[in-house]
Amino acid sequence: MTAPVDMNTLKVLGISGSLRKNSYNSAALLAARELAQDGMAIDIFDLSEIPIFNDDLKAKGWPASVSSLRKAVAESDAILIATPEYNYSIPGVLKNAIDWISRPPDQPFNDKPVAMMGASIGNFGTVRAQMQLRQLFVYLNMHPVNKPEVLIARAQDKFDAEGTLIDEPSRKIIRELLESLARWTIRLQID
Ligand code: FNR
Repeated sequence: MTAPVDMNTLKVLGISGSLRKNSYNSAALLAARELAQDGMAIDIFDLSEIPIFNDDLKAKGWPASVSSLRKAVAESDAILIATPEYNYSIPGVLKNAIDWISRPPDQPFNDKPVAMMGASIGNFGTVRAQMQLRQLFVYLNMHPVNKPEVLIARAQDKFDAEGTLIDEPSRKIIRELLESLARWTIRLQID
């Protein structure tokens, strides 16, 4: 059972761009959930039930999984995305979910603060995928945290066999990202 969330707690929706059971990115989200400061609660949405985008499906009524995802986005104060890098870009799984969320009416990403991080087995820790994700945020009218950049390179060395993030610098920078996201979200709410 999750702990009750009081009115002042920032509700963050975590989305991983990988469906893999032993995904480093899903593991990074779990680490973020554990590292979140008091006053922030991170819920993680599982994208595995989201169908491939097809406008004809929408015309018949939104698929239930998509409605749940859109509702979860709408009800959150901020979004936290953990993305793998596939072929220097974001994975289709993540793009597909974003495409569903982006459709009118009342596209729920509009005006949302968002932070991102990424883990890859390569040397660049998803930097190219994250640059592309930032472009999507412009069209979606989201408000990304710029710093710090969380680029978990050579992820196979940073997580243990159980998927726990054991690399202290990575844990520290995720904590800093969450602090940044909290400050940014509160600034935007005051506006
Ligand atoms: C990869 N991988 C990869 N890594 C990278 O640093 N840059 C890249 O462009 C790619 N491209 C790529 C394409 C495809 C189709 C796959 C399946 C993989 C490797 C990637 O970093 C690695 O599989 C990660 O483990 C994926 O993240 P999860 O699933 O562990 O979260």
